[in-house]
Amino acid sequence: MIIGVPKEIKNNESRVGMTPAGVYELVKNHHKVFVQSTAGEGSGFFDKDYLEVGASILDTIEEVYACSDMIVKVKEPVEQEYSLVKQGQVIFTYFHFASSETLTRAMLSSGAICIAYETVEDSDGSLPLLTPMSEVAGRMAVQQGAKYLEKPKKGRGVLLGGVPGVAPGRVLVLGAGTVGTQAAKMAAGLGAHVTILDINMKRLRYINDVMPSHVVTEYSNEFNIRKHIQSHDLIIGGVLLKGAKAPNLITREMLKLMRPGTVIVDVAVDQGGCVETTKPTTHEDPIYIIDDVVHYSVANMPGAVPYTSTVALTNVTLPYVLALANKGWYRACEEDEALHKGLNIIEGEIAYSEIVETFGWEEILA
Ligand SMILES: NC(=O)c1ccc[n+]([C@@H]2O[C@H](COP(=O)([O-])OP(=O)(O)OC[C@H]3O[C@@H](n4cnc5c(N)ncnc54)[C@H](O)[C@@H]3O)[C@@H](O)[C@H]2O)c1
Repeated sequence: MIIGVPKEIKNNESRVGMTPAGVYELVKNHHKVFVQSTAGEGSGFFDKDYLEVGASILDTIEEVYACSDMIVKVKEPVEQEYSLVKQGQVIFTYFHFASSETLTRAMLSSGAICIAYETVEDSDGSLPLLTPMSEVAGRMAVQQGAKYLEKPKKGRGVLLGGVPGVAPGRVLVLGAGTVGTQAAKMAAGLGAHVTILDINMKRLRYINDVMPSHVVTEYSNEFNIRKHIQSHDLIIGGVLLKGAKAPNLITREMLKLMRPGTVIVDVAVDQGGCVETTKPTTHEDPIYIIDDVVHYSVANMPGAVPYTSTVALTNVTLPYVLALANKGWYRACEEDEALHKGLNIIEGEIAYSEIVETFGWEEILA
């Protein structure tokens, strides 16, 4: 099969769909890989790195789309790519169709087979191609929170690890899923006192088993949240209700209970946030302050660490890319239930019922 790796052209996206390690595996399996010139540079992979493992470099995105049976990328195609997508071409990437009717219509009329990273789902309901980005964001949340706790950054002026004779900072983590667990682990590693809340007792039991004793679990309810926001320096939001807006666990009125300079990193911002005052920000302008509380709510946190994010993402996508290349999309999806769930659009028909429900398009369900 011929596989194409275009350069991402979405604003501020420095990740790339395949690393040289991925190209190496595909070439070993007798496939041909075309990488657009400089596609990997933002993640620290240069054309010569791809050439060394057997890829061919093409100058333009048009050439990459034109010659490929399958396109492997990171973000959904942007408008200028719509016309490049070909009938029968496999596009393997994050799509998030429900958030864009324009994109959905464009991919339907392209006749392509769209397999979305975000809906590939294991039998236990976990989303293996989303997990690495939550891992990155959870760990980053502590790094960012520690930075904005510094006085020149408008924070309380607290060092999370403390020093001998001074108590460590206190970190409150809302949600003990992937983001919350990784955040708690990083904060604990810095020596902070960590309180982590969830409504899922299985998650709290797990955290209690694996974390050191300065990570304390408690059940998530309004009483506990009101109590803890008064004494914690950094609050990390990692709550998710699948397919729904995140619940507002911290209301605007509750901000007044916090000490000035408290920092909130609401990682759940992409689902509306778990703090009422959360609104999406960017890496260029990541924070704003309401009632003396610093809010950090960047919607694509992993974008700031493209090397780590690219490698973490491609580690988990590569086995699927190999299966799609070796078997063809039809057999690969037939033989793997998780990958089958990634099928969103097949040659002009919708294969993922949530899209149909979102747009009310019963008539074109595959
Ligand atoms: N901003 C970013 O760049 C970025 C990056 C990755 C993920 N995210 C987002 O972070 C959020 C968390 O992702 P995840 O992978 O950790 O999800 P997850 O499903 O692994 O964990 C969510 C946790 O929230 C818990 N929860 C639900 N209701 C709760 C409540 N009322 N109180 C406390 N906990 C509650 C669930 O029980 C679950 O353990 C998602 O919205 C995800 O989209 C954002």
